[in-house]
Amino acid sequence: MPQLLGIGEVAARSGVSVPAVRYYETRGLLTSARDGGNRRRYPRSVLRRLAFVSAAQRVGLSLEEIAASLAELPEGRTPTRSDWTRLSRSWRARVDARIAELERLREDLDGCIGCGCLSLRRCALYNAGDAARAEGSGSRWVREARGS
Ligand code: FES
Repeated sequence: MPQLLGIGEVAARSGVSVPAVRYYETRGLLTSARDGGNRRRYPRSVLRRLAFVSAAQRVGLSLEEIAASLAELPEGRTPTRSDWTRLSRSWRARVDARIAELERLREDLDGCIGCGCLSLRRCALYNAGDAARAEGSGSRWVREARGS
């Protein structure tokens, strides 16, 4: 019979707090058995699962996305080296996109340093999602659609 770990030991060995371990379990990222005293008991493989969760969070995945990745594995298996390779390869594009976004943010910030206007019309940080900004101010698309 494989050795089972108590929640305190899992927390100590993984560096994840006891409440976080409980929370991850409620979110379906981990499973445990209960002993005769109704205490949680985890297989040793939970440590690798927690390492996977931590790494995925550092990449920027939400807990829902991590749960979906783990759910792809057959029968709730803990990620193997090849699983990790496949999943982490699919995250590469996401990391590249984040880097590109941060580089754009840095360039926008350079224009704001020492300015402080926070203008809806010209501040790329304050109104970052304004794709129509380059075409001018106001409800241009609505006016153009109406022909006015
Ligand atoms: S604060 Fe003035 S352009 Fe951003």
